[in-house]
Amino acid sequence: MWRHSHGYQYHPDLGAAGAVIADLDIDKLTADQEWEVYDAWLKYGVLVFKRTVSTHEHQMKLSRVFGETVVHPLEHLRIPEEPMLIRIAANDGKTVEPDDPSGDELIGQIPWHADLIYTDVPARGAMLRAITIPVEGGDTGFIDTARLYATLPTEIKAKIQGVRIVHSYEQAYFLQNMSSGRSTRFPDVAHPLVYVHPENGLPVLNISPNSANRLIGLPQEEGKELLDYLIKHATREEETYRHVWETGDVVVFDNWRTIHRAYGHLKKHPRVMFRTTLKSEMRTGEYLAA
Ligand SMILES: [Fe+2]
Repeated sequence: MWRHSHGYQYHPDLGAAGAVIADLDIDKLTADQEWEVYDAWLKYGVLVFKRTVSTHEHQMKLSRVFGETVVHPLEHLRIPEEPMLIRIAANDGKTVEPDDPSGDELIGQIPWHADLIYTDVPARGAMLRAITIPVEGGDTGFIDTARLYATLPTEIKAKIQGVRIVHSYEQAYFLQNMSSGRSTRFPDVAHPLVYVHPENGLPVLNISPNSANRLIGLPQEEGKELLDYLIKHATREEETYRHVWETGDVVVFDNWRTIHRAYGHLKKHPRVMFRTTLKSEMRTGEYLAA
């Protein structure tokens, strides 16, 4: 069902998570439209914009509808025209020669995670804009963690109240970053396993499988079993909205109530995205002593 509202199109159901907004005129964005769009974001967690953004300026203006943007810590990814935007190019933007056998390697796969969950203040959200799409692959998956909580059995909901989940940067990112020459480290950080989203009141299963290491608040064996169970619950294909990109698509996700993954693509196919990151003030994590 498409609803026409203020001249743009709105499709409120992408299945597992999200809604589509098409043909929004960014140059003539009104305060009413901004509220509608923000409201839809709180309601669905993931918004896909079609035929809406064609310049960096548009992307910045649309990003600011969702909050304050932040400068990305990785300086080499920033672009000179707009410091809040980063350019993410697969294979560091290098072309793979047709006779190079490594062209058939799968690259760019990132397992299920929430952004910056390995810090004490995870990101509020992020906006991705597709510039160059691989001929095949390169999809991004999203799962609604409010829905993950809602669909847990009652006895599990009762068991996980007050439990904390420890995220390990070491486990998820350190080796991978070392191989690309970066050696940043973060200590383990504990977050509540369940919290109420402050803006829409939804309880959220705050799980980010890639760096989830252990639970605090349960006997060790029981915690281990429960974490395995929750990770299985949180990574089911049928709960996934899998976005197949088209050039110009923009996707903005609420990092407080979604997790995402990158499926990867063949190295010989270029993939370029521009991204903004939305700032959060919500400190949910506590660093643990090493
Ligand atoms: Fe991410």
